[in-house]
Parts: sequence; structure tokens; C-alpha cells
Amino acid sequence: MIMGCSVLGFSVALLLVGSVCSSKFDELFQPYWANDHFVYEGEQLKMKLDNYSVSNPSYPMCTNGTSGAGFSSKRKYMFGKVTTQIKLVEGDSAGTVTAYYMSSEGPKHHEFDFEFLGNTTGEPYLVQTNVYVNGVGNREQRLNLWFDPTKDFHSYTILWNQRQVVFIVDDTPIRVHSNLEHKGIPFPKDQPMGVFSSIWNADDWATQGGRVKTDWTHAPFVASYQGFKIDACECPTTVAATENARRCSSGAEKRFWWDEPMMSELSVHQSHQLLWVRANHMVYDYCVDTTRFPVTPEECLHHRHH
Ligand SMILES: *[C@@H]1O[C@H](CO)[C@@H](O)[C@H](O)[C@H]1NC(C)=O
Ligand SMILES: *[C@@H]1O[C@H](CO)[C@@H](O)[C@H](O)[C@H]1NC(C)=O
Ligand SMILES: *[C@@H]1O[C@H](CO)[C@@H](O)[C@H](O)[C@H]1NC(C)=O
Repeated sequence: MIMGCSVLGFSVALLLVGSVCSSKFDELFQPYWANDHFVYEGEQLKMKLDNYSVSNPSYPMCTNGTSGAGFSSKRKYMFGKVTTQIKLVEGDSAGTVTAYYMSSEGPKHHEFDFEFLGNTTGEPYLVQTNVYVNGVGNREQRLNLWFDPTKDFHSYTILWNQRQVVFIVDDTPIRVHSNLEHKGIPFPKDQPMGVFSSIWNADDWATQGGRVKTDWTHAPFVASYQGFKIDACECPTTVAATENARRCSSGAEKRFWWDEPMMSELSVHQSHQLLWVRANHMVYDYCVDTTRFPVTPEECLHHRHH
């Protein structure tokens, strides 16, 4: 077992968090799409979207003569915390989407998404989050942010354990997806996930419902990244998913920090922060979209929004 950033017992974590876990891009990640759209500047990585077609037509997101870029983690993980600092596309970013997410593979995959929907200059970026369970998503929430995400780097974090998935912006939780298995609702905790980010042209839907198109005279569109941190349980691909789930869960001989009781739900302070976000920044919640869902999705009946 490789110790270090990826697998830390609770006692070890107390000593090591913050020292080993902020890594350079290439220790944890690799480009998986359009290597030529990456720019490395010291500890910073920039990914570009432009309208120069790349020669390989098999790039799935290289649509209609445009090319974005994407990177993925070199390894897969179960449970823990993944944080990246991102500075989104400055100026006119309308039509572009920058995604940052965790995902497993296969038709029954799970996925935890941050999607940043660009906008025309001066208009607010929207942050869309979504959760896929067993291959099914349709759990979008959208919010605007309390800062301009194109001016500085901000931390975007996914915290994942057996009790909850929490989406966090800087130190503020913006969404909690709780384990409601006791109500018969499936919860994603059986598949290792990779960590991904990509930027692409989505002007058919992203900005103001697709009405505002990408203005290519403003290309390249650049998203910048730094401060990559993964403090999670690493899952060798040679090991079966069930065995990985067991390895990554606390037992008699090891305690993982993400299984500590205080990680099983938000603190009172965090609950207040989430309440504030929902009251002041949320612009869409699938749970209350009765046009799309005449029957309220089951987890919405049980998810407490405090
Ligand atoms: C790309 O082209 C296809 C087929 O012509 C079209 O359906 C789709 O809307 C286009 N996508 C974008 C982003 O322009
Ligand atoms: C873009 O700005 C408009 C006008 O402020 C706003 O209605 C919209 O929600 C913003 N975001 C997107 C992704 O369209
Ligand atoms: C990209 O867009 C610019 C600006 O609209 C245009 O001048 C150029 O011809 C386009 N290039 C390609 C390869 O489509």
C-alpha cells in the first residue's frame, strides 16, 4: 500500500495534512484530451478552448471544429476529499463550460459534478452541480457565486464518505447529497472514481439556455488551475471494487478521517452557511422543478435543507 497523500490513517493525517497533500499537477493528473491545449506556468496549469480543430476526430467533445481540453487523475479513489483551485475564463466566457468532477466508469457509473457555465462579460457565471447514481443524473442545482470566480483562484472541493457527498466552495458547503439508503434510495459508495476537469464549447445549452453563442473572436478561452490536493483512499485497478470498498472503510485496525463522526454530517456552522447559500445564491433546484418532475424525486422528500 502506498502511503502519502492518498491513503492516510486518522492519526497519520493529523501530522501530514497540509504538508504532503498539495501536489504538482503531474504527480496526480495527466491530460486525456488535447495535450496541445495545455499551458504549464510554474505551479499553474492553463487549459484552452479555441476553434482550431485537432486532427484526431475521436475526441468526443471536439465538436463542430472546436477544441477544448481535459485532464484526469492518474489513479482512482474511494472516499476522502479532492480540492483544486480554479480561476475561470475571464471576460466573455459565454457558451463555454468548465467542468470539474469525479466519476466512475460504466453504464451504472456514479458522478459528482461541478460545471461552471460561462457568460457574457460582466454577467455572472453559474455553478451547476449534479449527482449521478447508477448512471442516472437529472439532479441539477444552479447557483451564482458571492464573488467573481474569474478574478482570483478559489477552492472547489468534493468531500465523499459513506454518509454524504458535500460540494464545497472555499470553506462554504453549497450542496449536500446525503446517504438515504435506510429509505431505500441508492447511495454511491461501491465504485472507485477518477477526478477530471475539462473545458468545452456548449453554446447549444450553457448560456441563457443556449440563446447566447460562443464568440470565437474572444478565443482562446482559458481556465487556470493550481493547488491540486487529493486526500483520499487510492484504489488499485487490479483490486476488485468490493475489496476496494472494504480497504477504504475504517475497521478495527485502521481509522480513516472521513469516517469520523464529525464527517457524517455538516456542523451547525456549515448548516448555517448552506442555508445562506440556498437563500441568497440558488437559482435552480431540480427538487422544486415541478414542470420537469411532476412527481417530486424521492430523495428530495427526505433531504433536509435545514
Ligand atoms: C454541432 O453540429 C451538430 C450537427 O450539425 C448540431 O446538431 C449541434 O447542435 C452542433 N453543436 C454545437 C455546439 O454547435
Ligand atoms: C448569465 O447572465 C444572465 C443575465 O444576468 C443570467 O440571467 C444568467 O443566469 C447567467 N448565466 C447563464 C449561465 O446563463
Ligand atoms: C476561428 O474563429 C475566428 C473568429 O471568428 C475565425 O476568424 C477563424 O477563421 C476561425 N478558425 C477556424 C479554424 O474555424
